Amino acid sequence: MKDKVLAFLKEQKDYISGEAISSRLGVTRAGIWKHIKKLKSEGYYIESSTKKGYRLMDTPDVITETEVASILNTDFLGRHIYYAEEIDSTNEKAKMLARNGAEEGTVVIADKQTMGKGRLGKYWDSPKGTGIWMSVILRPSIVPGEASQLTLLAGLNMCEAIQRVTGLESKIKWPNDIVIAGKKVCGILTEMSAEMDQVNSIVLGIGVNVNTKSFPKDLTHATSLSLEGGRVYTRRYLIKEFLQLFEADYIRYKQEKSSSTFLERYKKNCVTLGQDIKIITTEAEHTAYAMDIAPDGSLVIKDDKGECKNIFSGEVSVRGVYDYI
Ligand code: BTN
Repeated sequence: MKDKVLAFLKEQKDYISGEAISSRLGVTRAGIWKHIKKLKSEGYYIESSTKKGYRLMDTPDVITETEVASILNTDFLGRHIYYAEEIDSTNEKAKMLARNGAEEGTVVIADKQTMGKGRLGKYWDSPKGTGIWMSVILRPSIVPGEASQLTLLAGLNMCEAIQRVTGLESKIKWPNDIVIAGKKVCGILTEMSAEMDQVNSIVLGIGVNVNTKSFPKDLTHATSLSLEGGRVYTRRYLIKEFLQLFEADYIRYKQEKSSSTFLERYKKNCVTLGQDIKIITTEAEHTAYAMDIAPDGSLVIKDDKGECKNIFSGEVSVRGVYDYI
């Protein structure tokens, strides 16, 4: 019913009385007021006047399933969207939905996370109304070792989506942090359920700091699109751009079963390559030189003894020697 009230308000060019909405939709005026209150809490700017009634003035930055679905031009990605104003973690919700048989392409979006999860067991700050906190369920027929290629692809597509929507020069820090001017705007946490030789489901968890104005003191390397671009961005356009780009590339990846469909584009956008880097494990830090990305998604490095090795994202954190990148 809330969506019906919203659709009705969108059709109106002027104020509409509560009575008119209530008789048209067959709901009591108290019921209408309850739905209007909920819509306002989701971010809709609805003017209420005792004399004239209600008028929808603006749909500033709402990322509910209704608003995202209304602009999305995809085939299967986002056909089912689960939206929550507040949730512990969209990844946890998506994993639960996947366990219960949710279809490939199901998307979970939240306006706020209370227990956002970052890579390597870290906490991901996800305040209300400022970012994109989203998880996508995939069910590709691949072996577990190939899943990191999809994380790379998601990182590339979000980097491209940011460039298209904001015009900012976003880059990828291997494997899948998106950085602007050396600071992080987006991170991706991939979780999967798998047998030895077959993936059951993958949850791609994507966090983008969109309109964040300030960060906790310890997050010295974090920034937002808004801080970099000097304006406020509408989150749903970035969600739409990402889902459309990702769907097209994901379909191609599944057909070809190879990262060659996107690896050159990834390398072009990757700031880590050609840099001296620090490889940080729980036990130690080593310096190395980042040479290439292998088709399996690993980073090819030359270590300080001149030996070439491949490193895999799961166990390490990589930083530039001179900067965060
Ligand atoms: C990183 O540490 O760089 C990965 C951060 C991933 C954060 C996103 S926000 C949406 C999804 N839900 C979570 O709990 N985490 C991911």
